[in-house]
Amino acid sequence: MKIVTTIDEVRKQVKQWRAEGLTVGLVPTMGYLHEGHASLIDASCRDNDRTVVSDFVNPMQFGPAEDLESYPRDIEHDAALVEAHGGDLIFHPEPEEMYHDGFSSFVDMTVLTEELCGLSRPVHFRGVCTVVSKLFHIVMPDRAYFGKKDAQQLAVIRHMVDDLNMDIEIIGCPIVREADGLAKSSRNTYLSEEERKAALVLSKSIFLGMEMVRNGETDCKVITDAMKQLIGQEPLARIDYVKITDAKTMQQIPVLDRPALCAIAVYIGKTRLIDNFFTEDV
Ligand code: PAF
Repeated sequence: MKIVTTIDEVRKQVKQWRAEGLTVGLVPTMGYLHEGHASLIDASCRDNDRTVVSDFVNPMQFGPAEDLESYPRDIEHDAALVEAHGGDLIFHPEPEEMYHDGFSSFVDMTVLTEELCGLSRPVHFRGVCTVVSKLFHIVMPDRAYFGKKDAQQLAVIRHMVDDLNMDIEIIGCPIVREADGLAKSSRNTYLSEEERKAALVLSKSIFLGMEMVRNGETDCKVITDAMKQLIGQEPLARIDYVKITDAKTMQQIPVLDRPALCAIAVYIGKTRLIDNFFTEDV
């Protein structure tokens, strides 16, 4: 397993693999890897001859008041995890390598991004689309792997690939949870012991929503009200959103009459966490 920091080094390595007739998978990450990322690496290693993991905290997808500076970083830990799961190359660039002086081209999307995280984080998806399309151009993978925890991101990336005719298969992988239910996230490390306990309210509300759908409830307001009420009982929690949308358009719907996404974002103290379920998976 190799770690490289420049675009030229990635291209050289991938070119060599291509010359040998090997397929390449890409797992884009912002580092501080956990079992959720490991499951993406495992999936890529299963499907492809070689796996590249990008490890880059992308400044462009953070708003001015967000956690760019404090976002956790630990490349030694990441390297050990990638190696243990059979990844072949880590691309770990400095911001200047990705965004040279005078950088001024962006990938923006006018659909799918107005709701949910796009509403609370206005610059986020422009930053995600721009960096992911750059990574796709640099690595030119056959397949790329993303977690379903970032369900809106996955939908946005699928749409971008389709719009821009990128010849890359996008694979969405299931949410990985801690034993007590909390969805794995690099941001969980921000939580104090008390907040970590409080954060369980996210998965509890997701499980409640799933149960209501399983029991036949179709009124989205009834479901989201019950979830909000449960979250409201936790004093350290502050709701950003609890919404049910059409799974394809990401627009809110009143009734479960089509495949839908139930997504939540909740602050626990200062830490913003997300979780979700697709009604089709219930
Ligand atoms: O999901 C993430 O970690 C990031 O948004 C991604 C896709 C690596 C782009 O920076």
